[in-house]
Amino acid sequence: MQSVASRLETHHAVHWEAGARVEAAEACTLVLFGASGDLAQRKLLPALYRMALDGHLSAESVILGVALTSWSTEEFRAEARRAIARASADGSVDEEAFRSFARRLHYVPMDVTDASEYRRLRWALERAERAHGARGNRIFYLSLTPTLQAEAVRNLGDSGLSGRGAGRWTRLVVEKPFGVDLASARALNERIREHFDEASVYRMDHYLGKEMVQNLLLLRFANRILEPSWNRQHIDHVQLTCAETVGVEGRGAYYERAGVVRDMVQSHLLQLLALTAMDLPSSLSPDAVHDAKMAVMAAARPFTPERLRAECVRGQYGPGFMNGRPVPGYRQEPGVAPDSRTETFAMLTVRFDTPRWAGVPFYVRSGKRLPRRVTEVVVQFKDGPLAMATPNQLVMRVQPDEGISLRFATKAPGRVLRMHEVALDLRYDDLFDERLGEAYEHLLLDCMLGISTRYVRQDLAERGWELFMPVLEAWAAPNEGIALLDYAAGTWGPPAAGRVLEARGHRWNDGPEKRR
Ligand code: BG6
Repeated sequence: MQSVASRLETHHAVHWEAGARVEAAEACTLVLFGASGDLAQRKLLPALYRMALDGHLSAESVILGVALTSWSTEEFRAEARRAIARASADGSVDEEAFRSFARRLHYVPMDVTDASEYRRLRWALERAERAHGARGNRIFYLSLTPTLQAEAVRNLGDSGLSGRGAGRWTRLVVEKPFGVDLASARALNERIREHFDEASVYRMDHYLGKEMVQNLLLLRFANRILEPSWNRQHIDHVQLTCAETVGVEGRGAYYERAGVVRDMVQSHLLQLLALTAMDLPSSLSPDAVHDAKMAVMAAARPFTPERLRAECVRGQYGPGFMNGRPVPGYRQEPGVAPDSRTETFAMLTVRFDTPRWAGVPFYVRSGKRLPRRVTEVVVQFKDGPLAMATPNQLVMRVQPDEGISLRFATKAPGRVLRMHEVALDLRYDDLFDERLGEAYEHLLLDCMLGISTRYVRQDLAERGWELFMPVLEAWAAPNEGIALLDYAAGTWGPPAAGRVLEARGHRWNDGPEKRR
């Protein structure tokens, strides 16, 4: 295995930027709206700190936190230090590195819905930029709820902050979810269009920054053997799983309005689906990749109530056990209604009516409180030419242990012709010594470099809602007769999700332990 690994390492060192390795982005000021919020504290500030450590933030770059919380800059720095310590493996922070990072951090308490406060924001921005010698390139990062995002966009536009000056750029990062339904997503995009060019808008879906998600595209692009068999002639079905062990993690009130389809399926899983199913783009340019993703998603068959009843399943976790410890059910979580009908598990059969995929089901599932954290794409090939052969299976594991495994049939040693199933298992941590880096680090750097390939274009953001709105509507309608099934925390969701596959002679590839 190791020799395959080292050969791979030598011959396949391909970078996304086609060899153009950029170490530090142009100096810019990142205005972080929602700086006291959960995402900023858990992910964004630690990611920015790592970027600074890795030399990806130029010396003049500034981070200006904005939120309603009435912190001073000093308090913001202290909170950032705590957040970075929490995110580090051993809970510690390199004091000297942090001091140098903290000098970039500034904070303005403000209400983003109050237009009159944007003058103060501009002053704070200009003052910080002068102090650091920043050149006026700006990123407005909206880590806000969709309603607040729309307000912030309008106020940035009306106050003149959305404009570009001579020789400097302004970019807008919009954190998921993009709206809460199709109508609000369209309204938000409309509002954005009034004030920003699409070329300067970066819609963030952090799954696109995960190493293996990016690798999906490269695997297909760079390996000649895959493309000829990537179709209905050779592939029986595809499984996409994003299983989480966590419950709603104190976000009950948010989750009640979201549910797993909004929270995971129409965002993260849609991106995985598009990258797996799309035709190869004509190039790796952002627009070519976005066009290819959009084309295949446009061909996804609409969900009808009949299809939802026949080949989709929704569930909600009840009390159960995780790692032998009892955990409460969803309805007992803080912020959740005791009679909640919100789904925490969904399994949807996606079908593409295209020459490549006609008749090939894509089983997509995601859920909270499942037994194991695993995100993977499983491509199940059709039976081999010999009746005795097992079908090949290609598994692309996104997390937790990034890697690729290919299962195939070989002859068991000995005089008798006996088949043995083996897996060629390539694990990233055996192959590469580099730290993989968090998705947010990659994506923030992409935005600073002006590379939007791994962001979501407006049309696909809307298409995601268009495709999944009928699911949300049918599941919300009491008279459609589509049951919300229970599953015990710590199990793989309602057994009905397995029966949908069994009815077609398929079986979930459950859990990494099966493959080892
Ligand atoms: C977020 C969802 O977008 O993704 C969360 O809102 C979910 O509910 C999270 O837990 C999963 O991300 P990751 O990177 O931990 O798989």
